Amino acid sequence: MKLKSFIEFSIYGLKTIFFKNTNPILATIILTDYCNLTCKHCAVNNIDKIIHPYEDIKEEMLKLYNEGVRILFFCGGETLLWNDSGKNAKDLIAEAKEIGFELVNIVTNGTIDLDIKEADIIFLSIDGTKENHNYIRGNTFDTILENVEKANDSNICVYMAINNRNYKDVKELCELVKNTKNIKSISFNFHTPYEGTEDLSLSREQKIEVVNTIKQLMKEGYPIFNLYSALDYYLDNNWNRPCKQCLVVENKKRFVCGRCVEIDGLCNECGYLFAAEFALLFGGNPKIIYETLKTYLKFV
Ligand SMILES: C[S@@+](CC[C@H](N)C(=O)[O-])C[C@H]1O[C@@H](n2cnc3c(N)ncnc32)[C@H](O)[C@@H]1O
Ligand code: SF4
Ligand code: SF4
Repeated sequence: MKLKSFIEFSIYGLKTIFFKNTNPILATIILTDYCNLTCKHCAVNNIDKIIHPYEDIKEEMLKLYNEGVRILFFCGGETLLWNDSGKNAKDLIAEAKEIGFELVNIVTNGTIDLDIKEADIIFLSIDGTKENHNYIRGNTFDTILENVEKANDSNICVYMAINNRNYKDVKELCELVKNTKNIKSISFNFHTPYEGTEDLSLSREQKIEVVNTIKQLMKEGYPIFNLYSALDYYLDNNWNRPCKQCLVVENKKRFVCGRCVEIDGLCNECGYLFAAEFALLFGGNPKIIYETLKTYLKFV
């Protein structure tokens, strides 16, 4: 991480903790809901089938920057399917950097391209070992790994959504990450039970088992981009939500924390570890602050 970003984030953190600042620092812009996959756990693909126009996205980027947002994510649908006015997602990342965003990340299913040097972090969704990943995401595992092989200069973090089908795969996926040259880290979320996907939810016993596995793997030095202490808060469902410092923007509409905020009762069953981590961080939890600094300096 650049020194300038580090100082800027530290000042924001101090303001948040001591002056209860709730201005958003992190935003996700949804570029499109088109997707080339229909994953079993997903509730946000191919609903309106819209490619949002370049001009709207550019305007939103400028607004967010002027409002103080410094960490920007692009997401979808399949994010890399977006193109408009002769621009693609890589152009958007480059423009976001020119505007001044300190960290610009992208989330992708990895079936199209992973050679995205423009991004600070590429969150690449892999949902387990080959058999379970392909069960959830269609027959894409081999294609994704071929794309990883070609992505020499990118900072790739595997993003796994853990559910009751793939939860035993955590260790094996960590091994794969550790042994794959072009992958730097892995980050976990738990299944969030959107309507129609409840059958993938984990029981409390399964969650405890996975959390213990992840903690053990962290102790053994696997490159896990999550916060150790946040896992216990997640298990106890003991964190304040929605996270006010995070925004999602889709088609000019803004949501605090996530689009899911509008679904009755879902926040109480939230599996998005990053939401818990940010909420704890901005709530001023000292252990989480320390772990965030350590983790971000290592992986960003
Ligand atoms: C909606 S996808 C969009 C980006 C891209 N298409 C992809 O799959 O990475 C963003 C992330 O949300 C995760 N996700 C989708 N449904 C989820 C659910 N019910 N619970 C937890 N994570 C989920 C996906 O696994 C993916 O990592
Ligand atoms: S690739 Fe992403 S957006 Fe598409 S269906 Fe899967 S999780 Fe949803
Ligand atoms: S707390 Fe979880 S479910 Fe609620 S809006 Fe945030 S990410 Fe979505």
